[in-house]
Amino acid sequence: MDLPKISDPRGNLSFIEAGRPIPFGIRRIYWIYNVPGGECRGGHAYLKNREFIVALSGSFDVVIDNGGVMRTLTLNRPYLGLYVQNLVWRRLENFSTNSVALILSSEDFCEDDYIRDYKAFLKLNKMEKR
Ligand code: TYD
Repeated sequence: MDLPKISDPRGNLSFIEAGRPIPFGIRRIYWIYNVPGGECRGGHAYLKNREFIVALSGSFDVVIDNGGVMRTLTLNRPYLGLYVQNLVWRRLENFSTNSVALILSSEDFCEDDYIRDYKAFLKLNKMEKR
């Protein structure tokens, strides 16, 4: 999704509001940074949590998997965001030096909401689509 971008000779400005363009109320914000070369983050899905991911600085790839079909999307502009629904497996990888991933979440942190087993994810995803 494109985010608003207010271009200005003094520096650009982008913003996000709950519901615009993010289709959920924001409960939690976290960010991932100082990722050593070659490392991956994520590698799980959520039962309920939905996310909006922005590369505030630098770039990284988000591999999303909606039940066996994988797609890799590169986030490399601070005015672009990726909406990731619940029951979608996602992994962040290929971080550039000094990149920062900002993640807005629809739910409070809850370890019980994580699906960390890929086979269990496929099963749940299949059931959901029925
Ligand atoms: P996790 O989401 O498991 O990161 P990754 O999938 O990249 O390994 O989070 C790593 C640790 O941080 C885990 O112990 C839980 C903790 N954590 C919180 O306490 N609050 C949060 O909002 C998040 C995202 C993680």
